[in-house]
Amino acid sequence: MDSFEWNKIIGAVLGTAIFIFVVRVVAEAIYEPERPAKPGYVVEGVVEGPAGGGAAAPAEEAMPDWGTVLAKADAAQGKATSSKCEACHDISSAKTIKIGPPLYGVVDRPRASIAGFSYSGAMKAKGGNWTYDELFKFLKSPGAYIPGTKMSFAGISRAEDRINLIAFLRSNADAPAPIPAPKPAAAAAPADTKAAAATPAEAGAKPATADAAKKPGTTGN
Ligand code: HEC
Repeated sequence: MDSFEWNKIIGAVLGTAIFIFVVRVVAEAIYEPERPAKPGYVVEGVVEGPAGGGAAAPAEEAMPDWGTVLAKADAAQGKATSSKCEACHDISSAKTIKIGPPLYGVVDRPRASIAGFSYSGAMKAKGGNWTYDELFKFLKSPGAYIPGTKMSFAGISRAEDRINLIAFLRSNADAPAPIPAPKPAAAAAPADTKAAAATPAEAGAKPATADAAKKPGTTGN
């Protein structure tokens, strides 16, 4: 073999190598794996059942005692936080529909109830009212609490920020929703707390309150 022949062989090998390299780069550019915005699985701490071992309930944040926390909440701080919401929501009494439904008087309002706003199926299907608890859970991570919601907002992780925001939302209404009476300490179970606990909005959401108060061993939630 003369050197000319060797040149041809080396050229062919190099050419093939370059060809394969180019094909790979192009293929990767075309078929670049799309990473989902949310991973397929979420490991949010350890999922622990309650003491009884009920597997149905995932690890849930304890609900604040609204009667206690709302009295101390910083609504001015909450108002500052609400500027994040105003990108999509009108919070004024004009109740204008923007990307999202107006939020004036949202506390205790039935879910998905603004006429003329096109809610997601997920939001309509959820039902119930925007109680303090519901807002607290939703605003932590809207997409996690109501999968399929159109509200593309990451959420507010700090409980304190959410409480302040909810205190502001409560005050931002013609008639602010009532603040429930602070829960009695678990040990002191008064004989009759029905009158204090049974506001209309609460009655639907927490039918167990009165019973739970009578049994010292159980908690409401
Ligand atoms: C990126 C836009 C966007 C931002 C930011 C946003 N929202 Fe929303 N929000 C929406 C949309 C869209 C909906 C309707 C959701 C659906 O139908 O699933 C909604 C729905 C809601 C609802 C349900 C209202 C009803 O009538 O049932 C509440 C409550 C709410 N948002 C509160 C907030 C608060 C509080 C903030 C700020 C912390 C916020 N949102 C930030 C877009 C947004």
